[in-house]
Amino acid sequence: MTTLWIGTSWKMNKTLAEAREWAAGLREHLDSGTKESACPHASATSTLAGIQPFVIPSFTATTTVREVLGEESPVLLGVQNAHWEDAGAWTGEVSVPQAKDAGAQIVEIGHSERREHFGETVETTRLKVAAALRHGLTPLLCIGESAEVKDAGGSSGFILEQAQGALEGLTAEELARVVIAYEPIWAIGEKGRPATVEELVEPFAALGAQHSGKVAGLLYGGSVNLDNAAELLGIEHVTGLFVGRTAWQLPGYLELLRIASAVTR
Ligand code: PGA
Repeated sequence: MTTLWIGTSWKMNKTLAEAREWAAGLREHLDSGTKESACPHASATSTLAGIQPFVIPSFTATTTVREVLGEESPVLLGVQNAHWEDAGAWTGEVSVPQAKDAGAQIVEIGHSERREHFGETVETTRLKVAAALRHGLTPLLCIGESAEVKDAGGSSGFILEQAQGALEGLTAEELARVVIAYEPIWAIGEKGRPATVEELVEPFAALGAQHSGKVAGLLYGGSVNLDNAAELLGIEHVTGLFVGRTAWQLPGYLELLRIASAVTR
């Protein structure tokens, strides 16, 4: 059975109290699912059969969310960025070993907001993917084209190039630890509009032809909501959702987990 990755990045949102509340609610939900299960050997994992949940808070909340979820949590924890060097004179940056030390298991790399506002390039995404792999963390590589590229008919070529540039030179074993999230810029955030299934079939066919079965996951992100989640998960080669706004309030995230578990059944 294919594992469906269902996760959220909180971007630059949530105080520690809000982060704690979200994580505590999720843990409670998973624990209560365990208790309700008839199986005496049930664990939180069994209520999430076929699903890999993950959450990516701001750096400040990393250890708090780790503590609240617990060390044994089936929910993977990530950071939204990390530097490619392990340590040094890089004021304002956080390294992969530091993120790992704080409890992170995933490093989000190359989100379009970082490419647009913070100078992330194909080269820096390549360096960061390598750094995450070097320290045993899962790189979550985000790729996606602008509306202009899409309108010119260049979506698939553009995203394949972004992925290829970031993953260049990796061994098959390393590639198998990478997760790719395709997030078209025109579909992300308040200014974005939800993509239709028809618009996503071709880019996922292209990504699938290149990466399906070779990477740990091929996720879709951008205006995922409770109405379109199931159909997005039905697109060929899509093995998960990377969600912003809909999952920032816990009920939304729990509903997405429920939708995904109905799909895996
Ligand atoms: P959104 O954000 O779900 O709020 O559109 C998606 C993202 O930026 O990953």
